[in-house]
Amino acid sequence: MQRITQYPLLQEIQNRWSARAFSTKAVEQDDLYALIEAATFAPSALNEQPWRFILGNKPDDLSILKQALFPSNHDWAQHAPVLIALCSKKTTTFNGKENFYSRFDVGAAWAFLSLEANRRDLIAHAIGGFDKKMIHDHYALEEDIEVVLMIAIGYVGDIKSLSEKYQEREKPGLRRPFMESILTK
Ligand SMILES: Cc1cc2nc3c(=O)[nH]c(=O)nc-3n(C[C@H](O)[C@H](O)[C@H](O)COP(=O)(O)O)c2cc1C
Repeated sequence: MQRITQYPLLQEIQNRWSARAFSTKAVEQDDLYALIEAATFAPSALNEQPWRFILGNKPDDLSILKQALFPSNHDWAQHAPVLIALCSKKTTTFNGKENFYSRFDVGAAWAFLSLEANRRDLIAHAIGGFDKKMIHDHYALEEDIEVVLMIAIGYVGDIKSLSEKYQEREKPGLRRPFMESILTK
């Protein structure tokens, strides 16, 4: 499904959207690692590269990450063959202050990952609705690591595998015209 844009944009920007219907087709490890590598080429303040990843591509990790999903997300994301928990490492800048940009930079990493996923015909659906503390505790993460986002990865499947509620929503999210996002005095 391609979005209508006013200007011709990068194909992956036009084609990317947050689908929920996953097929059972497995994601090859090389494709998964390519997504992670793409994410790590995002720019970051002071090149701190605050992104960290927990890969749910093996049964044990996948099962734990699935358990962390809030029910409304578990409903559909439980069928994704891969889940990734994206984390952010809190760092301090040269003057000892907390790096304000850590989570911002992790957002850029997510965006890079999602575009590379689209190029490979993979869905990458961001999920904020999950138990971040559960994952933090299970993996005994350091205090300076924040669990930020879950990402469901996989190939497009049959829309009929979704509940009715989600079948209706299985289309690209709309945008307000970009000019309305430009602030003026
Ligand atoms: C940080 C973040 C959190 C999100 N959390 C959820 C979520 O918990 N459940 C869900 O179904 N979609 C979630 N989404 C997907 C958004 O709803 C989706 O990106 C938005 O509606 C725009 O649609 P599009 O990606 O198809 O353009 C999230 C997206 C982002 C970036």
